[in-house]
Amino acid sequence: MIRPAMCILIGLMCSVTCIWAFAHLPGDEEQRSAFSVARTSSMEGGPKMVVTFDKEYVDIGGDFDPKAGTFRCRIPGAYYFSFTVGKFPRRDLSVMLMKNRNEVQAIVYDENAGEERNMQSQSAMLQLEFGDTVWLRLHGDPRYAIYSNTGHYTTFNGYLIYPDTYTFQDPKHEDPTVSVYGNQGNAKDPATGGQENRMDNVEKREENQEENPRSAFSVGRTQSIIGVDQGFSEHRPITFDTDFVNIGGDFNVTEGVFTCRIAGAYFFSFNAGKLPHKTLSVKLMKNHLEVQAMIYDDSDTEKALQSQSLMLSLRYGDTVWLYSHQRDGFGAYSNHAKYITFTGFLVYPELQKPLIKNLQQNSQSQRRKP
Ligand SMILES: *[C@@H]1O[C@H](CO)[C@@H](O)[C@H](O)[C@H]1NC(C)=O
Repeated sequence: MIRPAMCILIGLMCSVTCIWAFAHLPGDEEQRSAFSVARTSSMEGGPKMVVTFDKEYVDIGGDFDPKAGTFRCRIPGAYYFSFTVGKFPRRDLSVMLMKNRNEVQAIVYDENAGEERNMQSQSAMLQLEFGDTVWLRLHGDPRYAIYSNTGHYTTFNGYLIYPDTYTFQDPKHEDPTVSVYGNQGNAKDPATGGQENRMDNVEKREENQEENPRSAFSVGRTQSIIGVDQGFSEHRPITFDTDFVNIGGDFNVTEGVFTCRIAGAYFFSFNAGKLPHKTLSVKLMKNHLEVQAMIYDDSDTEKALQSQSLMLSLRYGDTVWLYSHQRDGFGAYSNHAKYITFTGFLVYPELQKPLIKNLQQNSQSQRRKP
């Protein structure tokens, strides 16, 4: 009989897998990368467009060079970036989050001839390969400037959320554009031989998901939203046309809806541009119409950006989406540089193992539909 030998072999393979997985938990020294920096002086637009920094708060892994203003990816994975810049009085503000030489990821913008100083913030998660760089680009025209002083108006942060590991588990489904862990929710494995083998694979995946479940999305929209009176109230989610990250496939970009697959605490952040002469009102919604947080701006500035973020405790099946007020006089601005962005990721899964296991089985059987 071959069966007992197989069991031992599978058991051995499983323990090797577990040891390997433990050795690569995100807390592991070699899997850490984080930076947080500030700038103590203003900067005017010019040929040298990279925003540099002179104050370092956190530098884990040494991946950010403040003098060069550049983050260089050492550990491939999904990173969360956020930045805040001060607007210089009587100047415009335009700062882009850049990937590599010239890939614009998202923007902050403020067009306001006034005396006042204010701040603009933006955030996004990016999937990075080894050697990718991330930096902030100030518009090259001296009409644009960043304000900062020893009060550190201008800051830039980034940290690794999900390193790309686990690729070894399921080579058949390897897809370089998606973090491989995300594919495992799909559990569609018709090609695998025996039923037992398949069950075993599913169990292995579940064990690993319990140890380190993952869910993250970061999306952008390149078009403005103009509110129109429709004579009836309809609450359509804001939809998106760019996904930076969609680990687990829990965000439906065309629908604009995140559906919780792993119960737990999630961090969300969203940003939207203000249209001239229109009121900006964007709400973070849970399930049907439960408002969780919002951004609002009815000032008469030409263009600007507003930001909001919070954590939510979600249960399996909860949905989270953004709603822009669908009425005349309301709207949100965006263009190809992406003013409108929406990011969310699992911070801590709920610690109820049997429950999580059931939920994952549910989600896997649901996701098995073609
Ligand atoms: C997103 O939602 C739409 C509309 O409900 C649906 O047709 C589509 O299949 C979904 N896409 C994914 C990737 O699940």
